[in-house]
Amino acid sequence: MPGELSPIDKAKFVAAKRAAQFVEDGMRVGLGTGSTAAWLVRCLGEMVREDGLKFRGVPTSTRTAQLAREVGIEVISLDEAKWLDITIDGADEFDGDLNLVKGGGGALLQEKIVATASDQMVVIADAAKEVEHLGAFPLPVEVIPFGWQTTRALLEETLISVDVLGRDVTLRMNGDAAFVTDEGNYILDLHLGRIGNPRQLALVLNQLPGVVENGLFIDICDSVVVGYGNGRVDVRDINSGTVETERLDFVENDNLFSDLDD
Ligand code: 5RP
Repeated sequence: MPGELSPIDKAKFVAAKRAAQFVEDGMRVGLGTGSTAAWLVRCLGEMVREDGLKFRGVPTSTRTAQLAREVGIEVISLDEAKWLDITIDGADEFDGDLNLVKGGGGALLQEKIVATASDQMVVIADAAKEVEHLGAFPLPVEVIPFGWQTTRALLEETLISVDVLGRDVTLRMNGDAAFVTDEGNYILDLHLGRIGNPRQLALVLNQLPGVVENGLFIDICDSVVVGYGNGRVDVRDINSGTVETERLDFVENDNLFSDLDD
């Protein structure tokens, strides 16, 4: 029930609820992954069921695909959609230029492909995700399992010559085994503390053999919908430079607020 949500969950919910209003009939919509994106999918599902909204969704993970189908959203593949009107996704960090760190949920590869294939990308986030400098959140890098320890060594060596504070690289685990992405790859988390030049780092990382993709989203995000625990929502558009503030009410709705485990 909404009254039992933590302030962070309320913030994620109102951001997602506001961003759902960007979706219009006939659109092809990229659906992100993570707890904030799960709120979005639930909100959109409700709009499909209650208001007759008609759109097709391209999920960025098997988790999101499953939830989207459960709530009544028509799911298609990116190849079927070819190009998307909008992608709405969460983020682990965003800075003043709306550059992002993503991949905390391990879905960065599909998320980046889908966001890049969209007319616009909207990030939904609670206010705590905003940072002056990216890098406090460990930067996820997706690598192929073959030779992953060699790739890690190469990454560590590479980090010596770039502008970062920390250089620890850890293999993401799922219990006792390596975490495996939807694409069958591993995630190496880079504990950098602060990234001095995100654009340069993104380019350098993707040149290393074994690296599939990194979680830095540079010049991809167009706007961010920032939610607060008191229902306030800011919509910031990087292209127009505008910020709109409004307040959303929490409306009790059993369907929307039950059984959300993501
Ligand atoms: C998944 C992601 C998520 O968008 C990111 O981790 C934010 O998650 P949450 O909304 O649960 O805080 O990049 O790969």
